[in-house]
Amino acid sequence: MVERRILVVHGPNLNLLGTREPEIYGSLTLQQINARLEERARELGLELECFQSNHEGELIDCIHRAQGRCKWLIINAGALTHYSYALRDAISSVGLKAIEVHLTNVFAREPFRHVSVIAPVCVGQIAGFGLNSYLLALEAVARAL
Ligand code: DQA
Repeated sequence: MVERRILVVHGPNLNLLGTREPEIYGSLTLQQINARLEERARELGLELECFQSNHEGELIDCIHRAQGRCKWLIINAGALTHYSYALRDAISSVGLKAIEVHLTNVFAREPFRHVSVIAPVCVGQIAGFGLNSYLLALEAVARAL
């Protein structure tokens, strides 16, 4: 059912989770994060599709494909968060309800990470809780239904 279907998008470099700067991003791999999300989604009666790419255009294509099939988008756009107007326009073009997530508290980090160009086209933002940022986004969807 479209109402309960969520696209989870992970942007550049998140495929390296587990080995990428573990002191910042933790030790969980992307597969482990996705598995935990699938498990929680099942418990909440939600359906998930997970996608990762290092390429802006592939992320945009994936968001376009979700139009009409998914109602929600949970997105960690990685560094694209901070400068990709194309990704922002993709989100606003397809009418998905988007939740921006980050593993880290981007506001406690370098100044360039304090800007999100996608935040204005998202329902809300969750940052700083590692895996729980994604899990809290799932809870937010479940409570909105
Ligand atoms: C990130 C924060 C971004 O600034 C960074 O470029 C990432 C990961 C996070 O989840 O904390 O790749 O989105």
